[in-house]
Amino acid sequence: QETDKGTYPYYMLKEIDEQPNVMRKLAQMYLQESGKTNVEPELVAAIKEADRIHIVGAGTSYHAGLVGRKLFEKLTHTPTEVHVASEFAYEKPLLGEKPFFIFLSQSGETADSREVLVNVNAENYKSLTITNVQNSTLSREATFTMLLNAGPEISVASTKAYTAQIAVEAILAKAVGMAKEQVIAEEFDLRQQLGLVATGMQAIIDEKEEIEDLAKEYFVDASRAFYIGRGIDHTVSLEAALKLKEISYVQAEGFAAGELKHGTIALIEEGTPVVGIITQDNTASLTRSNLQETLSRGAKIITIVRQALAKDDDTIVIPDVDEMITPLLSVIPAQLLAYYTSLNKGLDVDRPRNLAKSVTVE
Ligand code: G6P
Repeated sequence: QETDKGTYPYYMLKEIDEQPNVMRKLAQMYLQESGKTNVEPELVAAIKEADRIHIVGAGTSYHAGLVGRKLFEKLTHTPTEVHVASEFAYEKPLLGEKPFFIFLSQSGETADSREVLVNVNAENYKSLTITNVQNSTLSREATFTMLLNAGPEISVASTKAYTAQIAVEAILAKAVGMAKEQVIAEEFDLRQQLGLVATGMQAIIDEKEEIEDLAKEYFVDASRAFYIGRGIDHTVSLEAALKLKEISYVQAEGFAAGELKHGTIALIEEGTPVVGIITQDNTASLTRSNLQETLSRGAKIITIVRQALAKDDDTIVIPDVDEMITPLLSVIPAQLLAYYTSLNKGLDVDRPRNLAKSVTVE
């Protein structure tokens, strides 16, 4: 049964493990061999017309939106903003003539996100919900729906929904970009890339014992930790830190690598774990020097590095995929680090204190 844990000790590990298959499934569902997509033409047309895209989400879904912004801006050439759902109502941005709203919600039930959708509908703006749950509230109330098809996600800490959301955003951005005749979208072989991602995820998961060793050595006894990166790696650092906080209660912060020195580096002490995420050509050496700055203040360093940029002493090397979708791979070691930290602290991985899978109050 889909909702059965089987031989897994926790749903979270099962759901981490399912990610390669989710990637393959999404490629099959939405991408044709010819390079065309199976995205609803009316949806593509509605986004093509928009002068600005607004992505709305909470928690991990918000973090998937941060990656989505980069995909939409690169592939569709449409200015894109990302909003924390619970802030939107009070900080309502100045909307252009033709905004288009994308709601990201695993459950499709988050009250904060729904509140924004109610407002969006009142203004007659068009919207899309990207969700894992067919017929959920957000799916019923938005103009369009795209399904994640990731299978039920039971563990409170979201894993496969995050990567599925990013993959679906990439598919949609490619579809719209192609409709807008953007060369970069036409040349982006996403079907092939998602195949590489699936294999790459599997390769990382196959090395999970080594990641467990790192979790024990770096995080189990730590009171605080940092993930740092630049650009798209920064967005992953936020999700990586959230995973660790949620289930292991280590106070973790995701930080823009270059901004650390402007204050937060004061928190680095002897033995503070700092994880650097390095997947982009143009920022790799800069992030490396920011890591050095923490090292010289006593930090213990882990690196998560894309193969083409890897050096001998890097800790975790992830396979090469297109730079636009590296979060699909760089997040996997972070999910496993969080999982094993929680497990080795003897905590209930799937049911962390104070948290709910879906929050239906504002
Ligand atoms: C809760 C969960 C988070 C999740 C967030 C948004 O806070 O604990 O894991 O990211 O809600 O949920 P949604 O279903 O809208 O993606």
